[in-house]
Amino acid sequence: MKKIYLYGNWKMNMLPEEGEAFCRSLADRITGSLYGSDLVDICLFPPFLTVPSVLKALPGSPVSAGAQDGYFEDRGAYTGAVSMDMVRSAGCTHVLAGHSERRHIFGETDEIVAKKLRKALDVGLKAVLCFGETLEERESGKTIQVVQNQLLSAFQSVPGEHAQDLILAYEPVWAIGTGKNASPDDAQEVCAFAAKLASGTFGGQSRIPVLYGGSVKDSNAGELLSRPDIHGALVGGASLKVDSFLAIYENYRKLSAG
Ligand code: 13P
Repeated sequence: MKKIYLYGNWKMNMLPEEGEAFCRSLADRITGSLYGSDLVDICLFPPFLTVPSVLKALPGSPVSAGAQDGYFEDRGAYTGAVSMDMVRSAGCTHVLAGHSERRHIFGETDEIVAKKLRKALDVGLKAVLCFGETLEERESGKTIQVVQNQLLSAFQSVPGEHAQDLILAYEPVWAIGTGKNASPDDAQEVCAFAAKLASGTFGGQSRIPVLYGGSVKDSNAGELLSRPDIHGALVGGASLKVDSFLAIYENYRKLSAG
């Protein structure tokens, strides 16, 4: 069985006490199981203020924590912003960059995403670069072009030696929070394209994982995760409950065990 990345983006959900309770329950559920093995990599992305209570509940467990965002400047007069160094020093190992909600609600351009990505990698974080097309772009046949532009713009800011800290997440905008996931064939096609573009840019040995995100739940996870170029899931809604989050991996495991 291939290694699976099971990443949960809590978005603007989970008070500190809720995050702590979730992690205590998650830690109980995964002890002594294969979750501690090299076969599953679990990372949670809580809101900033919930990060400390998540980390408090996780010591000794194989689960890591990441931030949903970080700014590209180191410090200064940037009201409301949190630097990548702050993210790292709070104990996060990962950070998201270019999530579609940051692009579409907060107006982040490819240029801003590229700067954030560069800073995240420079401070030693693993960066999850999100990309994906809108419904209009898909319906007008522009998916690959849009995805290629987003990826190449971001890749320019990644020094070759940092490529091993890069993770990609294909999240079609129309599939996020809508209950309408991309079909396994469509997701595979775009993830394979992204993997090829990454290995063309960083060298064949780079093996950058590509995750799929957008309405992933237990009932569709098995088929999606079984596709050869989909290495994991970036989960929103279904990551808010321990049962539905773990069911995603368990369904994949059942399917691949035959
Ligand atoms: P949903 O799983 O709720 O569609 O969200 C996906 C997502 O945006 C993860 O980053």
